[in-house]
Order: sequence, then structure tokens, then C-alpha cells
Amino acid sequence: MAWKAIGIFDSGVGGLTVLKEVVRALPQEDTIYLGDTARVPYGTKSPETVIRYSRQIARYLMGRDIKLLVVACNTASAVALAALQQEFPIPIVGVIEPGARAAAEVTVSGKVGVIGTAATIGSSAYTKAIKRINPDIEVVTRPCPLFVPLAEEGWVDNEVARLTARIYLGELREQGVDTLVLGCTHYPILKEVIAEVMGPGVTLVDSAEQTALTVARILAEQELLRPAGEKGNHHYYVTDVPAGFIRVGNRFLGGRLGDVYQVDLEQELPEGGSDEEAH
Ligand code: DGL
Repeated sequence: MAWKAIGIFDSGVGGLTVLKEVVRALPQEDTIYLGDTARVPYGTKSPETVIRYSRQIARYLMGRDIKLLVVACNTASAVALAALQQEFPIPIVGVIEPGARAAAEVTVSGKVGVIGTAATIGSSAYTKAIKRINPDIEVVTRPCPLFVPLAEEGWVDNEVARLTARIYLGELREQGVDTLVLGCTHYPILKEVIAEVMGPGVTLVDSAEQTALTVARILAEQELLRPAGEKGNHHYYVTDVPAGFIRVGNRFLGGRLGDVYQVDLEQELPEGGSDEEAH
């Protein structure tokens, strides 16, 4: 069982920021990444649609015999995690809980900001998770949808990025949050400009880093870690042609992607395993 791979999925390329942290924390592990590039973005879609897509991807990855599944997409974690955990028997880790736990630990003033896609913020998943840990913490949220195309375009250190960040984050800053959760896969790419706008008194919480630590802890607890000193292999799958994913992916991963293959989820699913099936 320990020799099986870790499955990771995202709506597209953004989850590579989570993969990067998982590989940093657990270099001995094999990973299988799936980016749903044919249907990205998830952040503007309804919970029903995101749940349907997520279940379909999880079924595909289960078919690849993984030992743990990471839902790297904040939007999918926010709306689909519970459904996936109910349906599949292996450990499934989302990015919301680890980010919320870190924010609750870091804040001194008890005022935490959360930024994410419209769907993530609309779900209140971070607010609920933080309040479950400490009901006294005040949570202020803000959707920042334009950060996604800015990060993919590589516009992370220019006037457009700075102005967008100032407009999105001005209110959070004025409200005096001392901690800001980067609740979207793409936002770590914009960390510097976000930090600059929020000022030195605000700690940024990267859900990707926290999630990787959670994965390491769960695998250790369940004695599912491969021996330290092994070197993991990494496989990448996308649902659209790979060119765009490869172009942006190297930057998100902070290194070179291996070969990327296109998969057709409808075709690959076993008989009766399509997402149309009622559960
Ligand atoms: N991966 C998504 C998230 O973390 C951002 C991109 C999208 O909207 O699909 O919420």
C-alpha cells in the first residue's frame, strides 16, 4: 500500500503550487496529478457542477490505484470534499482545513482575512472551518477572481497586478486583519504583490504549504510513507491538449514538468462509472 502514488487534482494548472509543496515535504513519494483543463475555471461554477466534476476525477484517480487523494483546488475542496470523503475509502485531504488551522494559530488580533474564487468565498467554507476551531475569530472575506488570469499570464509584478491587488485588498487592510489566507491555488504566485499591498503587519497563510504538511502527517500516522531516500516519480494528466498547461505549468511548479498526457474522463471511466450515474 505504501508504494502506491498520491493522487492530486485541480481544475487546471493552479494545483501545481500544491504539488510543489507535497513534493518538497515528501520527495520520496510518487504522484499522479490531474488538471481538468478542459473545464477550468471551477471558481465561477455552481457547487453542483463542481461536485459532479470532482467525483468524476476522483473516480478516475481511484482507478489508478492511489493511496491518498489531495483536492488541491480550493473551490473543489470548499464544495465537494465531503461528498468525495463519503464516496471513496482512502484518505482525502482538502486545502481548506489545513489553511484554516494555520490561520487560527497565527492570528494575534483575532481578525483573519480570506481571499479566494467567487465559489470558495460564496461557500463560506473557510469562515466555517476557522470558526469551528475558534468561534471568537472574526473572519473577513473577499473574492479576487482577476488574480487567476493574472497569475496564469505571469503578470505578477507589474502595475496591473499592483492596482488589482490594491482594489481587492484595500478593504481587508482597512479592517485591520493581521492574517490573510491565500485561499486559491493561484494566489501563492502573487504572494509578493499581495504582501506588499497588505503591509508588513499581515502574515500570509499559504494553504498549499499547510496541506502538504497535513498529507505528510496522515501518511506517517497510517504508516503509508515510502522509505525516506527514495525518489518519487511524477505523472501529469490533463483533460484538454497539454500545450497551455505545459507553458504555464513550469512556472507554477517552479521547475520542469515531466511528460503531460491528455485523458478523456468519459472514455476512461469503467462501464457504469460515468458521472451521470446517480448516487
Ligand atoms: N483552482 C481554483 C481554486 O483554487 C482556481 C481556478 C479556478 O477557478 O478553477 O479555487
